[in-house]
Amino acid sequence: MAYDVIFIGTGPGGYVGAIKAAQLGLKTAVVEKRETYGGTCLNIGCIPSKALLHASEMFAEAGHSFDALGIEGVKPKLNLAKMMAHKDATVASNVGGVAFLFKKNKIDAFRGMGKIAGPGKVAVTGEDGKVMEVEGANIVIATGSDVAGIPGVKVDIDEKVIVSSTGGIALDKVPANMVVVGGGVIGLELGSVWARLGSKVTVVEYLDTILGGMDAEISKQFQRMLAKQGIEFKLGAKVAAVAKAKNGATVTFEPVKGGAAETLAADVVLIATGRRPYTDGLGLEEAGVELDRGKVKTDGHYQTNVKGIYAIGDVIAGPMLAHKAEDEGIAVAEILAGQRGHVNYDAIPSVVYTSPEVASVGKTEEELKKAGIDYKVGKFPFTANGRARAMLHTEGLVKILADKATDRVLGAHIVGFGAGEMIHELTVLMEFGGSSEDLARTTHAHPTMSEAVREAALATFFKPIHI
Ligand code: NAI
Repeated sequence: MAYDVIFIGTGPGGYVGAIKAAQLGLKTAVVEKRETYGGTCLNIGCIPSKALLHASEMFAEAGHSFDALGIEGVKPKLNLAKMMAHKDATVASNVGGVAFLFKKNKIDAFRGMGKIAGPGKVAVTGEDGKVMEVEGANIVIATGSDVAGIPGVKVDIDEKVIVSSTGGIALDKVPANMVVVGGGVIGLELGSVWARLGSKVTVVEYLDTILGGMDAEISKQFQRMLAKQGIEFKLGAKVAAVAKAKNGATVTFEPVKGGAAETLAADVVLIATGRRPYTDGLGLEEAGVELDRGKVKTDGHYQTNVKGIYAIGDVIAGPMLAHKAEDEGIAVAEILAGQRGHVNYDAIPSVVYTSPEVASVGKTEEELKKAGIDYKVGKFPFTANGRARAMLHTEGLVKILADKATDRVLGAHIVGFGAGEMIHELTVLMEFGGSSEDLARTTHAHPTMSEAVREAALATFFKPIHI
């Protein structure tokens, strides 16, 4: 065999796994159909959206909050093309970084569409249609996910008027009106970008809450914050049709509980109703690889039912998150190198990069209730945090859930400025099986936003100091 392992796909799962495998001494190859490495995340997902989220947040701050800080007369003028160029440059430096790391770690890359052609064989079809066969003792499927569309509704996504996240990060002008179908992560992040740049954004969501599955109290508070920013919500609304119009498009939805349908017109409609595992053209059926509801079925060691064929990331079960895929990439590389790779699925943080951010790790209050676990709640609002007041970032709170008997932290939820960074002290705490008292007895620098995390921990087992 030419290689010890071939990774199909170079998203966060595939590229991180390949680097780890090479570092552990395995002869490693990758197959990638895109021109650049990094998959959806680096090319058209996490990274470009964060460039736009940051830039649009600065634009909104300059326009709205500077005055209160004594910085007067700032009237920011939007240069959308320049903002997009910043986004493109961010993507270029990140995908270039992966190419550099592949070279540095002596990973061979094959450009083209990969297909499993038999045990230990991957056929790679290049753009010119030529097929070459690459052999490896092990194959790791890391092909990620693609836009799911709206189940049961035919939608013609042209990426100009009716867009997925791909077109949603590349509009050439700010739409006056935007309808977002789906109040999940993509809908709220990209909806925020365009709302800050001047669009009137309406989110149409099937569930009665936004960010379904999020702790209900946090989700409710967060929705109020977004509404204050001008985003409108139509909840409990099932989208039945999305159609192109003479100018823009229309979205028709009906109340889930029954009732009259409503139609909204918009310049741009963003479809953000989830993603599906991407297994097209991989030859899984011929190879005998089993699927479970579209996802590649794996055992506890990421091996499929076919020996030597593994799978990681969005294409298998679990949350579709880049960092979950990365950790599975590391784990599968370690397993293939004879080590004991492992991912702790109870301590995977998730972050919504809106303003303010929403971050969580572990169980929600609803999940604990459902599981019949006795728990305690500790909360602390940022309004009572000195640093937050100094920065005018007092919106939000920290909420910690701990086991009633043992005080072990079972879940934590933060909505507030910098939540996506603060969540990690709770993630580490949970990884070590820590209690809220462990956290509350750890000295936190003053003045920091993180002191609110400590105060919430204090509130979990005793009382906070500052309220
Ligand atoms: P999502 O699953 O987060 O949200 C989709 C929403 O669409 C749900 O709330 C669902 O109830 C709603 N929906 C479905 N059908 C509908 C209909 N007919 N009418 C109205 N609403 C409907 O999916 P999303 O936002 O597209 O994101 C896809 C994946 O990408 C997710 O797994 C997400 O975790 C991941 N992602 C993560 C990010 C992060 O971690 N910051 C950023 C962007 C994406």
